[in-house]
Amino acid sequence: MQESVEKSVEEAKQLVATEDNSAKGAQLYAKCAACHGKNAEKKALNASQIIQGWSKEKIADAIRGYKNSTYGGAMKAVMIGQVATLSDEDVEILAEYISNF
Ligand code: HEC
Repeated sequence: MQESVEKSVEEAKQLVATEDNSAKGAQLYAKCAACHGKNAEKKALNASQIIQGWSKEKIADAIRGYKNSTYGGAMKAVMIGQVATLSDEDVEILAEYISNF
């Protein structure tokens, strides 16, 4: 009995992990596109690095860094406002989405 419960929990976790989050990613990225470009191909406000081609981890680290003020350059105040309300899960989904451009 206990074993079968653990098995279902394990299966549920895998389902969540493999869930297709691209629709949610696109929704979250919509406001970013205004500055970073439709496919993250631009220097935002002519000031950021081009984040297209960055790994998921590098993007997530940068976003988390803006959130807790441990990352950024001269224009970081702009980004802090953009990412302040993102949940940890949002950050993961968004970073995954951008890394696939
Ligand atoms: C109003 C314009 C604007 C919007 C909207 C915006 N950004 Fe940015 N972004 C910038 C600027 C400017 C920088 C460079 C900030 C700095 O000096 O650190 C930047 C930097 C970044 C970086 C790090 C690149 C670097 O130069 O180190 C990432 C990652 C990033 N943005 C992701 C996002 C995501 C994800 C969103 C949407 C939630 C978003 N941005 C929305 C303007 C914007």
